[in-house]
Amino acid sequence: MAKPKVFATHELFEDARQILGENCEMEYWAKAERPPREELLRRVQGKEGLICLLTEKINDEFLRAAPKLRIVANVAVGFDNIDVAACTKHGVAATNTPGVLDETTADFAWTLLMAVARRLGEGEALARSGNWKGWDLDQLVGTDVWGKTLGIVGFGRIGRAVARRAGGFQMKVIYTDALRVPESVEKELNAAFCDMNTLLAESDFISVHVPLLPETRGLFDSPKFYRMKPTAFLINTSRGPVVDEAALVAALEERKIAGAALDVYENEPFIHPGLKRANVVLAPHIASASLETRTKMACIAANNVVSLFAGQRPPNILNPEVLKAT
Ligand code: DGY
Repeated sequence: MAKPKVFATHELFEDARQILGENCEMEYWAKAERPPREELLRRVQGKEGLICLLTEKINDEFLRAAPKLRIVANVAVGFDNIDVAACTKHGVAATNTPGVLDETTADFAWTLLMAVARRLGEGEALARSGNWKGWDLDQLVGTDVWGKTLGIVGFGRIGRAVARRAGGFQMKVIYTDALRVPESVEKELNAAFCDMNTLLAESDFISVHVPLLPETRGLFDSPKFYRMKPTAFLINTSRGPVVDEAALVAALEERKIAGAALDVYENEPFIHPGLKRANVVLAPHIASASLETRTKMACIAANNVVSLFAGQRPPNILNPEVLKAT
């Protein structure tokens, strides 16, 4: 029996390639730069499966160009690049990679938090510059992390993994979310639920962990920055459009907050020039980028594809209703 034809918009990792190679007729995008849109639409023609990254927009136009497509497997937990309703309309299964990147992303939220609090970016630049004149009492003094209040916005798997790490720093943890977690979880993580305004007013560090949805787009806007402490820092490893970048730049300029550490941006890879300042740590969307985690993500995407073609339910299907229709 002919193997299903699958296009992957990236070379993936060896473990994932093995899973796919045994079960599918694979075609990989092998260039370093991301595929141009027209090329993508051309390459997906006649394919039954697609493995894509969050840089590819999978919408109605895309799906019309690929009438044979049966599955779109995103190598990411966030799937705001995929119009799931359009996939459902076209009878295409959509999948993501939840679970495997929680701890790695939480590690990185902490990396950013520590870096901005202790001015690591500035320190590293000075150490490399050749201009460092030696130890000085008031050189690059930052702010303590230990003993402070950490506010977590969005208390799903990643938000909770961030909270778990705060115990080691003797921090007070508060969180806000649409839903309060069970008391047993709050107790285990030593985290207290509060409303957004309380969190804004009390936190020394605010770490954002919400998905990008219509209701979270621009969640961090001017009024929110005005409610934060002038000594507080914003950490964002979720999605760029959750933060209104122009409002953040204004808040930084007006010293309404002390600084920010960002892994994600409103219009990636463009970074608002006003964010390129000493009290902002900037990373290029790498929170999940450990070899272990990225390999697992690729394997999960591969397994989602292989499951569908084996007549099974892809473990991470976002629109299971398409399965009932076939
Ligand atoms: C995701 O998975 O959504 C991240 O942003 C990339 O790892």
